[in-house]
Amino acid sequence: MSEAWVTLTTNDSYSVGALTLATSLKRVGTTRQLVCMVTKGVGEGMLNCLKQKFDHVVQVEELDSNDAANLKLLDRHDLGITFTKIRCWTLTQFSKCVFLDADVLALSHCDELFDRDEFSAAPDAGWPDCFNSGVFVFKPSLETYTNIMKFASETGSFDGGDQGLLNSYFSDWPHKDITKHLPFTYNMVASATYSYLPAYTKFGKNVKIVHFIGATKPWLIHFDGKGEPQIGGTEQHTKNHLQLWWQLFSNEVKPMLEKSSAFKVSHESYQFMSSHVAPTFTACPPPPPSPPTDSRADWERGSPDYTGTASFNNILKKIDETLAVKDSN
Ligand code: UDP
Ligand code: GLC
Ligand code: MN
Repeated sequence: MSEAWVTLTTNDSYSVGALTLATSLKRVGTTRQLVCMVTKGVGEGMLNCLKQKFDHVVQVEELDSNDAANLKLLDRHDLGITFTKIRCWTLTQFSKCVFLDADVLALSHCDELFDRDEFSAAPDAGWPDCFNSGVFVFKPSLETYTNIMKFASETGSFDGGDQGLLNSYFSDWPHKDITKHLPFTYNMVASATYSYLPAYTKFGKNVKIVHFIGATKPWLIHFDGKGEPQIGGTEQHTKNHLQLWWQLFSNEVKPMLEKSSAFKVSHESYQFMSSHVAPTFTACPPPPPSPPTDSRADWERGSPDYTGTASFNNILKKIDETLAVKDSN
């Protein structure tokens, strides 16, 4: 049986993330299948785009924790619907899978994750005795699915989303088997790296998967004409990752969306054609993609050629240089 990367999107907004994620996985040469779980909240035009990028688009029923009290603690009222992730255990046509949130980006080849067993995940940067459920290795099984659903109805979730639920269900994760702890480099939370700058300086270049956790997703950020993300001072360290996201989006996702009329460009903002989803994608249209080159000048300007042979090394080098400058100040 085959193995697959699995993601989830319940609306057109997160679908933009899913499409860019799929692009990133293809770019790093994965040999595994790409699966996108979708719900009825994804519009027709977007669905067609997802079908072009993913090997399988699977319709699932929405599941919502409706747990306003715990979601308030997380300050994310929108995350009850992440219970829908649990549907991934029903994908029994695959022997093993790796779930990825739609807001992650693969920076380099990471198929070795499929050598891991269920349930493997990386520590959460906010509470390292919990795992972050944005990246996890699992084995589809209807039995596990039923057990988690039963557990959810009895116990609920301490954060109102899937992460609280899964941490309670796989409660031996913190102490039982260290091989089920994925390195942080497989789920590096973009917003948390500066909390331990020396480690980021030393290990940042090893990061394989970056996770844009939090309410400000890359597809909601304004990128200027040069592809510079308009972000605050605390997010500067992740600028290169955002730029890579933007490059993949503007080169390989945006043209597809325009062609399929999944959304129309109106003046300065994008509006999704889908009627039942609010137009949440408000970034200004990026400029036409610059032709692929591999010159230093391009990435010095902040628009590295992601298809070039040394492009990713260049990005890392730039991160290192930025940190070195910061260190010497
Ligand atoms: N998700 C979705 N629709 C939503 C909210 C979340 O499809 O309205 C999915 C999507 O795959 C997303 C994941 O659930 O990446 C987890 O949510 P999010 O990434 O926003 O949580 P965070 O990582 O910021 O805590
Ligand atoms: C987290 C995770 C995300 C999860 C959410 C809700 O912060 O990053 O994957 O869906 O919490 O539990
Ligand atoms: Mn996420």
